[in-house]
Amino acid sequence: MSTGAEAGDGFETRAIHAGQPPDASTGAIVPPISLATTFAQHAVGRHRGYEYSRSANPTRDALEHCVASLEGSHHGVAFASGLAAEDALLRTLDPGDHVIIPSDAYGGTFRLVARVHERHGIGWTAVDLREPGALAAAWRDETRLVWVETPTNPTLSIVDVEQVASFAHGLDARVVVDNTFATPFLQQPLALGADASVHSSTKYLGGHSDVVGGFVAVSDPDLADEVRFLQNAMGAVPSPFDCYLVLRGVKTLAVRMERHCANARLVVDMLRGHDAVARVLYPGLADHPGHDVAARQMRDFGGMVSFLAAGGEEAALDLVTRTRLFTLAESLGAVESLIEHPARMTHASAAGSPLEVDRALVRLSVGIESGGDLVADLARALDTVV
Ligand SMILES: Cc1ncc(COP(=O)(O)O)c(C=O)c1O
Repeated sequence: MSTGAEAGDGFETRAIHAGQPPDASTGAIVPPISLATTFAQHAVGRHRGYEYSRSANPTRDALEHCVASLEGSHHGVAFASGLAAEDALLRTLDPGDHVIIPSDAYGGTFRLVARVHERHGIGWTAVDLREPGALAAAWRDETRLVWVETPTNPTLSIVDVEQVASFAHGLDARVVVDNTFATPFLQQPLALGADASVHSSTKYLGGHSDVVGGFVAVSDPDLADEVRFLQNAMGAVPSPFDCYLVLRGVKTLAVRMERHCANARLVVDMLRGHDAVARVLYPGLADHPGHDVAARQMRDFGGMVSFLAAGGEEAALDLVTRTRLFTLAESLGAVESLIEHPARMTHASAAGSPLEVDRALVRLSVGIESGGDLVADLARALDTVV
């Protein structure tokens, strides 16, 4: 009889079976979407692990087991969005604590730290984590957390997680890695020494542009308890249906990521040879400053590609309206290809801050359509740009 995944199983096997043995009561091979908000108890305080759905839910449990296993951990906590997951990790800090964030962090992370947590007494410094010595220069006695994103959104810079973790741990601080762009298929932050791996599961984990969600995986049981406490206390939990959608997406994560990476390579090759493109940012390129680190800590280089339009902002704004298959839209990491202008869209909230992005930058989320069609679509649009 099928009993689900075991510890030594491969990534693809765990993606399909971890936390998802056939349902004990019916044999259903897909975890049921458990909509009940409350669960019968045999006697006061005696129940089968479920009391109230904000605190624990069977569909959420299946998702938490599965993604934790993919991150190489026993502890996974699912949230209603990536930012809710980030918020829970930031709430493990106390007023007076200081956090170091990357100088090219996702704009929403910057907004959450600078406009929400700062008001509640958290100090912060934005640092270029690629620069040797930058972390030490920004360090304060109160520094308790280093926030790493690698590859970063939208400039695809790479941070050496092992190096940051060994420095931060030496000074008694924790390291969080936003693993949204890489996914656990390409990169395992906990194995590299990070204390937590955080996701917007809205992106590659869900993979189909139809669910907003977040996830935190941690190794340390005490930190896991703290994050789980916050999940229940704050209440930013995903619905059972949303958990089902992410779980369904995760089953095909490995094959999707392989195609995202392969298509990104084709797109990068074309962009590199096009006159309308000033510079391509992709960690798979040998001349990318983070290439060696990425090659060491990632299995492949991912499906996100950014580039600078040779004609500046005007050309970038023109280009993003000219593609047929790449849809002009925010978000990323799903089966369909997307194109966007970070300075005016996803990263508009960073305007005027140290995290402001180049106005000529265009970001692509390369999907899993036929690679040749994607290349032709972009090349045609670039040929006609102002
Ligand atoms: C790298 C990264 N982290 C976190 C988030 C926030 O996730 P969500 O939109 O699910 O709240 C995003 C969203 O775009 C992101 O790109």
